[in-house]
Amino acid sequence: MLGSALERMMYRRIVILTGAGISAESGMGTFRDKDGIWTTHRLEDVATPQGFARNPTLVHTFYNLRRAGLKSAAPNRAHFALAEFEQRARSLGSDVMLVTQNVDDLHERAGSQSIVHMHGELTSAVCASCGGRVRWEEDMSLESLCPSCGRQGALRPDVVWFGEVPHSIDEIHDRISTCDLFVSIGTSGEVYPAAGFVRLAAGQGAHTVELNLEPSANAGVFSEGLYGPATQVVDRWVNAVLSSDG
Ligand code: OAD
Repeated sequence: MLGSALERMMYRRIVILTGAGISAESGMGTFRDKDGIWTTHRLEDVATPQGFARNPTLVHTFYNLRRAGLKSAAPNRAHFALAEFEQRARSLGSDVMLVTQNVDDLHERAGSQSIVHMHGELTSAVCASCGGRVRWEEDMSLESLCPSCGRQGALRPDVVWFGEVPHSIDEIHDRISTCDLFVSIGTSGEVYPAAGFVRLAAGQGAHTVELNLEPSANAGVFSEGLYGPATQVVDRWVNAVLSSDG
């Protein structure tokens, strides 16, 4: 048969959701695994507006360490495979939206184009005083000045904390509500609203695929699951859908 599996299946509206598992083999750490970030830090202290109000220095230190860690991290085969998938799917006329819960920039560095950072980005700062956003690659502290309004002590990491509304959530819902392929990669399915996306996609008839180290909390909802390290399973899945005999 002619053409790749992707061409034959004719998926035209594709949404891919990624979580910490896709960046685990790049050394960025996951949250809920046995050695995850939430085993050494209390989420309430470092990932809530209330925690930041109580102890901004602790929160700045936490994100400064993660931002510094990002400098020595590099995209892995899974990030590159997704970038290739997006490029091929677009060349066939499909829309692709890559929704990531990750605050790292490894998808960008691998070459992905249409990325939505629903939980924000480590390399961005937002000013609580003027609302300005600015690219931020160094440490942040109460002494940092906002480049837009000049105020000291009002900058915070541009990440979405528990209790806050994820970025672009209406656009994401719209895209999932009309997608024909939904792929979830490296996420535990524990944190809403992202954890609810697969039900939305499946409910309106999309093919749903889970690629994860192990079955997630939502595993039973997916049409298909492939389990193992992201560098292996994402690569394998992308090769299968792009191959002419897949
Ligand atoms: P979790 O830590 O909850 O889940 C990571 C998932 O990745 C788990 O299902 C692991 O089995 C899987 N995993 C681990 N290593 C992997 C590997 N090498 N290859 C493939 N999969 C692997 O992370 P998220 O689901 O991303 O939010 O967490 C969602 C949100 O909770 C995060 O964005 C963050 C966190 O609290 C905020 O901070 C607001």
